[in-house]
Amino acid sequence: MTDTETFQLSLAAAETYETKFVPALFGEWAPVVVEAAGVDRGYDVLDVACGTGVVAREVAARVGPTGRVVGVDINEAMLTVARRSRPDIEWRRADVVALPFADGSFDAVVCQAALMFFPDRVAAVREMRRVLKDDGKLVIQVWAGLDAQPAYRRVVEIAARHAGPDAVDLLSSYWVMGDLDGTRNLIDDAGLALTEATTHVGTARFDSIDELVKIEVESTPLIDRIDDATYQAIIADAREALREFAAADVRVAAPIVGHIFLATRKPA
Ligand SMILES: C[S@@+](CC[C@H](N)C(=O)[O-])C[C@H]1O[C@@H](n2cnc3c(N)ncnc32)[C@H](O)[C@@H]1O
Repeated sequence: MTDTETFQLSLAAAETYETKFVPALFGEWAPVVVEAAGVDRGYDVLDVACGTGVVAREVAARVGPTGRVVGVDINEAMLTVARRSRPDIEWRRADVVALPFADGSFDAVVCQAALMFFPDRVAAVREMRRVLKDDGKLVIQVWAGLDAQPAYRRVVEIAARHAGPDAVDLLSSYWVMGDLDGTRNLIDDAGLALTEATTHVGTARFDSIDELVKIEVESTPLIDRIDDATYQAIIADAREALREFAAADVRVAAPIVGHIFLATRKPA
């Protein structure tokens, strides 16, 4: 996998993630994920692949001073930004397949918008299971498949028209966990019982259609495979195709669909 596919970032990119992407996209999902995990006062909770910490911050507000929140991420730049905004939360650098905690440490483990970046997803979910208490809850949030994403699907179709069919794969890393049965099987293979799977529609907010397209293209390997003329042609077509998502003002509000899976340990 390339750095782009595994989401390795510089400090500047992690800062942009926090100031731009979290409010634009990830922030509104954090309360949904934390609610699904039934996080309550005094709980011990692990946020896996925490990024800059939007979910961990939501957890901290709910568990109160008697609870424990730990955010784990493989990317030091993400953790640096997380630490700056909440030095009181415990942030640890680790790979999801080697979590630095004893078996049965947490009442809840949450993982938002990250499963698609893990090279061995069954091993990752198995490791999340290992650190759960016997009656603990695991919540995994992933984006639905491209077929279910009305705005993003159009961007990918336009990119494929201008840059060739390979563009679909290059732009698809976010959407690969959208197959509900596939993710259900993955959870089962990792030794967990699925309790609930729900689908939510969120809103991705950007200043303009150009910005939405730029973030989609520039955060994937497609940006390295196209020349400027092709890039400009993609942006020009997207301005037309996504016009309905640009409200009366200049802001864009594009639907983004996600699935939330709640699972518990299978009895041994
Ligand atoms: C799209 S971000 C999501 C961050 C955060 N959960 C949120 O909702 O804002 C994906 C995160 O997964 C992390 N990540 C990717 N592979 C990882 C791994 N093997 N172990 C731990 N974290 C990983 C990246 O560093 C990145 O912070």
